[in-house]
Amino acid sequence: MTADLVVVGSGLFGLTIAERAANDLGLKVAIIDRRHHIGGNAYSEAEEQTGIEVHRYGAHLFHTSNERVWNYVNRFTTFTDYQHKVYTRHKGEVYPMPVNLGTINQFFRAAYSPAEARALIAEQAAELGDKVPENFVEKGISLIGRPLYEAFIMHYTAKQWQTDPEQLEASIISRLPVRYTYNNRYFNDTWEGLPTDGYTAWLERMADHPNIEVRLETDFFDAGQEINRDNVRGNVPIVYTGPVDRYFDYAEGELSWRTVDLEEEVLPIEDFQGTSVMNYPDPDVPFTRIHEFRHFHPERDYTKDATVIMREYSRFAGRDDEPYYPINTDADRAGLLRYRDRANAEPGVLFGGRLGTYKYLDMHMAIGSALSMFDNRIKPHFTEGAPLE
Ligand code: FAD
Ligand code: NA
Repeated sequence: MTADLVVVGSGLFGLTIAERAANDLGLKVAIIDRRHHIGGNAYSEAEEQTGIEVHRYGAHLFHTSNERVWNYVNRFTTFTDYQHKVYTRHKGEVYPMPVNLGTINQFFRAAYSPAEARALIAEQAAELGDKVPENFVEKGISLIGRPLYEAFIMHYTAKQWQTDPEQLEASIISRLPVRYTYNNRYFNDTWEGLPTDGYTAWLERMADHPNIEVRLETDFFDAGQEINRDNVRGNVPIVYTGPVDRYFDYAEGELSWRTVDLEEEVLPIEDFQGTSVMNYPDPDVPFTRIHEFRHFHPERDYTKDATVIMREYSRFAGRDDEPYYPINTDADRAGLLRYRDRANAEPGVLFGGRLGTYKYLDMHMAIGSALSMFDNRIKPHFTEGAPLE
């Protein structure tokens, strides 16, 4: 193995590091991933029967207000003009999300002006008076009032956490945005869109360089692989984007995550729900939402004979599940601080990405954070001999 740099994990963080190291510094980079494909959770593929692009690890929408990231990603792909919108199905009726003037007027069968709606929500949110919210339910009521909270948020969040709402901590929500206009665009960022020819084409272009070698189905902790922790550590600089607790053999305890189960179905109809994402906030439905992938690319000439939907169920992750969302309990936060100390003290290894830092990162954040690591740590190491730590 003759690499100048080993990158563990081919998600957007690892790919950005590898691409910069090869193109800007001319380094030889080995990038390994334990999965059979590159791209981490942003990976997508054409569903076999229909050819419809399916995001294998849940729907991924690209959006950013970071100009540097936007210019960077446009070197590998163009983006469509897709604008994400979400609807929610409550007691047999469909409402626009996030909660906006349209949602409020439909829910209360009214024609409130923005000022009237604001006054109504303020009055409903004052229900608890001066009482400091003691749990998630009281916190939610204090933010948007009981009627909207119970209809659209309470059971939805409880399903995400698979926990009785009364048992959830107030701290899991700090704000619930309500828009007093009819704007129901989901994201407020300057740029938004989906990669024109799919996520995988984008991700593969990032790794397409003679100096970048990708090894799939290669686990960094598998002693049977040429590139593994014991062989590489101390010999070649490493950027590690796997779970930080796993790297240290869980010495400071296990950090907790939620995962999602995705149930895919091909239906023999052209259109199931008329939109890409429908939330299900009621307690009698076990899933949280349904994605219908054809609607992410209305510009494509997909078959009219079938459609692909995916129901999403949320639950706590065990050690063998895919970790998706950090739970961030007090114990997790304390454990993370100890892992950070260990990571800083680990010579020649940089920890990055959402698993390596135990942080939820959108794609643009993962890319932005990798570009900073490259500028501040990797480039100085290779061009000025600064220590890599
Ligand atoms: P990952 O993509 O997780 O990549 C890490 C890689 O490391 C994986 O491929 C993994 O197999 C590999 N790895 C781990 N351990 C080892 C090991 N021991 N050996 C070898 N390889 C290993 N972002 C958005 O901007 N918009 C969205 O709509 C959006 N939706 C999301 C929905 C879900 C359900 C999830 C979970 C994330 C979503 N994201 C979204 C976030 C997006 O997926 C992340 O920004 C991205 O995954 C971060 O990239 P990463 O490289 O840090 O991590
Ligand atoms: Na380190």
